[in-house]
Amino acid sequence: MGKQEIKDKIEKLREFLNTCNYKYYVLSQPDISDYEYDIKMAELQKLESENPEFDDQNSPTKRVGDDRNLEFSQVAHKYPMLSLGNTYNEGDLKEFDSRIRKLTDKPFFYDCELKFDGTSISLTYQNGKLIRAVTRGDGQKGDDVTNNVRTIKSIPLTLNKDAKYPDFFEIRGEILMPHSSFNRLNEERAEIGETPLANCRNAAAGALKTQNSAAVSRRGLDCYLYYLMMDSLPTNSHFQNMQLAKSWGFKVSENTTKAENISQVIDFIEYWNKERKNLPYDIDGIVIKVDQMDIREQLGFTAKTPRWAIAYKFKADEVSSPLISIDYQVGRTGVITPVANLEPVHLAGTIVKRATLHNADIIKSLDLHYGDTVFIEKGGEIIPKITRVDIEKRLQNATPINYIDKCPVCGAELVRNPGEAGHYCPNYLHCPPQITGKIIHFVTRKAMNINCGEATIELLYNQGLIKNPADLYDLKAPQIARLERFAEKSAKNFIESIHNSVEVPYSRVLYALGIRYVGEQAAKSLAKKFKNIEQLKSATIEQILEINDIGQAIAESVFQWFRNSENIEMLNRLIKAGLQFQNSETEVVNEEKSQKLAGLNLIVTGSFATPQRRSELEQMVEINGGKLQSSVNAKTNFVVAGDKPGTSKIQKAEKLGIKIISEQEFLKLLQ
Ligand code: IVH
Repeated sequence: MGKQEIKDKIEKLREFLNTCNYKYYVLSQPDISDYEYDIKMAELQKLESENPEFDDQNSPTKRVGDDRNLEFSQVAHKYPMLSLGNTYNEGDLKEFDSRIRKLTDKPFFYDCELKFDGTSISLTYQNGKLIRAVTRGDGQKGDDVTNNVRTIKSIPLTLNKDAKYPDFFEIRGEILMPHSSFNRLNEERAEIGETPLANCRNAAAGALKTQNSAAVSRRGLDCYLYYLMMDSLPTNSHFQNMQLAKSWGFKVSENTTKAENISQVIDFIEYWNKERKNLPYDIDGIVIKVDQMDIREQLGFTAKTPRWAIAYKFKADEVSSPLISIDYQVGRTGVITPVANLEPVHLAGTIVKRATLHNADIIKSLDLHYGDTVFIEKGGEIIPKITRVDIEKRLQNATPINYIDKCPVCGAELVRNPGEAGHYCPNYLHCPPQITGKIIHFVTRKAMNINCGEATIELLYNQGLIKNPADLYDLKAPQIARLERFAEKSAKNFIESIHNSVEVPYSRVLYALGIRYVGEQAAKSLAKKFKNIEQLKSATIEQILEINDIGQAIAESVFQWFRNSENIEMLNRLIKAGLQFQNSETEVVNEEKSQKLAGLNLIVTGSFATPQRRSELEQMVEINGGKLQSSVNAKTNFVVAGDKPGTSKIQKAEKLGIKIISEQEFLKLLQ
């Protein structure tokens, strides 16, 4: 192919993939299979990497983000980003309506829109391409977060080719984190002992400001647009302008409704106040806007807000209930989490009995006393939280709740490191929940993938058979078969599963060790930089800090872990048991990582030529930017099947029309 032909081909593929993205992420109506999409994407990635002269920041391949650190620069807004007047009651709405009717006698209607609870963004497009994305900032100037925003799949990088969009315009909207992404993120945080994020709004705003666009890409953000801005708008109707924007490629809410009068507005509000719990993202109210642009102009702005719009905010779903007691849970890293036990109470469709209190500062700021009645709030699918105390119900002579200073299980004096919110129990060698918690973490699927549950680990620990992960490798089938819950066959399977785990790749073994703050991602980065455990063991804090996404806390924690004699003793036993403590051949060969499988979800199932081959294939998936899944679902792109693949996986893949490929076909994908 000549250069011109390559260029044409690249442009065609970009256009095709942009249309597919639009149909999938904006319209939710894909018309090609994921497989076809993936093949085209792989083709484009290949052409682009071979022909860097045709690079384009707005290519659909750029959605995966990059690993460079960004420094946000400040950009002045062409039109200031104002906020809205808020109200919580119908009376204010009626006043808003009559104020407008006094200022104009022209006929108009209202647009009633969902008030998305995220973080606002202003996008600028020139000749159909996204050129800038800026946060609200102080309303006059904001942060340039263009590279991060490029990873959000529902934001078009290039507008629909056939649409007639203006040459230059700005469009504003809300970046939000859907519940599914939020819950996943908090599970990951809990896994590494970090305080969960309080709500989807903070999570979205935090994600957008992450100094690493690849990390933003993984956060699963979404974006709805609700405000088109340019010197001369296409039509006089906001509603119509937004429908046009939709046809250009933007995600515009399906739920906007026109209202002739304020009573129709109130109907809309009442409907969504009930219905919002069924949305996959949070809304915190309804925005009511005069539709006609000429009337908006006539009404103008006050210093901070437009006179033509108002936000009706929902009262958060809130109930009150007496506090019965507080449990202090001890996690595997020794972190203490206080949890309130409450008189069971109905809230937003569920019965709430417990609410998290996170840490000592939260208990203090709530000024909790024994016997208090507390208010509990819940938004979306988020864990309920205590927002305040009902002071009127406080008992006479009630005493304040003081945070514990000793571990509730082993009695050790708790420690709080400067700058950290949580207390933790330092007695990691002898504190039972920490011992079992570490072993439970060690066996989980994402770590050593040993086939057993929490109850088995607790049983083995209580029977004195295991005190740390290395003890697992000394267990013998007859010892296990004697235990309740086990028979000869299940004992044999369990021991076999322990032995099979010696094939688990190095990065997952590092994760399994349960070093404080080292989650899956950090373990991968560590394994990439330090090719074997000896290198990691002798690394200085400074050397560890050279890794892009590793900060001071992780680096210090890793360094300290290797300075502890019990850890070293356990490590030596694990090395002796044959676990992988260095990058395998495949990893070394594939060192130049590619993005050939970026955005793809794969599963490897069945057995291959050698017992190690399966983990090698799994590593190849990850090295090439793909994501490994443990079970087949609608998001799976390929199932790589060896001999005797899992029947349920194959059946499910067939049912969902997911491509099942052989090892050879998989290797072809990587070529
Ligand atoms: S219109 C002149 N429409 O709410 C202000 N804002 O409290 C134009 N928001 O800063 C904003 N959903 O971040 C508008 N459908 C919607 C919205 C919306 C959420 C946010 C936005 C704004 C804040 C105002």
